[in-house]
Amino acid sequence: MRLSELLRTKTINAGHDLHGGELRRVLGPLDLTLLGIGAIIGAGIFVLTGVAAATQAGPAIVLSYLVAGTACAFSALAYAELAASVGGCGSAYGYSYAGLGEIVAWIIGWDLILEYGVATSAVAIGWSGYVNNALAAVGLALPELLTKGPLEGGLVNLPAALIVLILAALLSLGVRESARFNAIMVVVKLIAIAIFILVAASHVQPANWSPFMPFGWNGVMGGAALIFFAYVGFDAVSTAAEEARHPQRDLPIGILVSLGVCTLIYIVVSGLLTAVVAYPSLNVGSPVADVMLRLGYPWAAGLVAAGAIAGLTTVMLVLYYGLTRVFLAMSRDGLLPPVFARVNARTHTPIRVIVVSGLLMAAVAGLTPIGEVAELVNIGTLAAFFLVCIGVVSLRATHPDLPRPFKTPWSPVVPLLGAISCLYLMLNLPLVTWLRFGLWLALGLVIYFTYSRRHSALAAVES
Ligand code: ALA
Repeated sequence: MRLSELLRTKTINAGHDLHGGELRRVLGPLDLTLLGIGAIIGAGIFVLTGVAAATQAGPAIVLSYLVAGTACAFSALAYAELAASVGGCGSAYGYSYAGLGEIVAWIIGWDLILEYGVATSAVAIGWSGYVNNALAAVGLALPELLTKGPLEGGLVNLPAALIVLILAALLSLGVRESARFNAIMVVVKLIAIAIFILVAASHVQPANWSPFMPFGWNGVMGGAALIFFAYVGFDAVSTAAEEARHPQRDLPIGILVSLGVCTLIYIVVSGLLTAVVAYPSLNVGSPVADVMLRLGYPWAAGLVAAGAIAGLTTVMLVLYYGLTRVFLAMSRDGLLPPVFARVNARTHTPIRVIVVSGLLMAAVAGLTPIGEVAELVNIGTLAAFFLVCIGVVSLRATHPDLPRPFKTPWSPVVPLLGAISCLYLMLNLPLVTWLRFGLWLALGLVIYFTYSRRHSALAAVES
């Protein structure tokens, strides 16, 4: 084995083997932006904000959102540049393959599978909790045996497994159908958030903001590392590169506009949450709906809960979508089995990948307490962001003449700031998260050295 083998790179815009069929270009700038908002607003703001405010940052959770949002903004600019210039449905995996070499690409592809897979399964469990509450409210509560996995005293978390399978069916149907469903659900969640903002704004009590930073600056940073989860997802827009009608113009729009809109929403919502009630009381499972109840607006609480269910649904849909596109890209390159490189000729979707990954994620969501390791999503995503930022700097040096329809401003300063801030947030995550992440990467390396390195399409070219 030679080092050059591990560092071999793929030619940019070389196209791919189309024998497996093609994805269809049907998505416009609005679809892409709504996919971004679909993936971003979910469990982070509807659930985690409460815990983070109560136990980590206090009212300064607003600053945590600002810090994490800034790190994401740097990374989003890097994503926008590479999505428009390198393209491909493999996102960070593909950019790394072009700029940093096969082994780095494999690690980041494996890491993206972790990010999207764990996030989808973990959010499915949160979704199940919200849906069970709603069912209980109308007297149709499911028995505990069907709402908890075997490790928590139940049999299976049926709603969690079912929602993943339903999304599998929708994704198989077509990207246009999926985007349409996503758009409707995004509108529902935005209406719910607007109602929360309108109601909460008239109940602000400035005293709740003092003390503003009860856990100091460390609390703000710990909070930022935790609620970083709320921003995860805008990166999935870049996996739509082969399904966008004008990817070079519209991917940067989709990535940057969705992140900008959501950052604004997060700052307003988290600021209001801690301004209308005392922050220690926010440590509950559904803080946003809970606050509406406590202010005496049960109808608004119901609407917020409906918005949260819609929001969690779109998060799963778009992250699952991203997972299938990265998987497809890795199979086309031979790093994962080529049977997964097929795109169905009628629906133009990678049905095999959708079914296999859907069954796996449904089993994980239905049978394991995956929510407990959700922080893996943060570390995995931050690692991908870090590499995309480095990728911008590296490709500017190695491929100075590559056409760049969108350019990250003030490079290399901005992408380097992005890389540093992602690394800093990673360092604020608990040690146990690092250990679990290390285990996942070690497993990935075993697969790479026993299978992928030899089956790589580039290995065939070299021999
Ligand atoms: N950003 C997504 C959420 O908050 C993953 O649910």
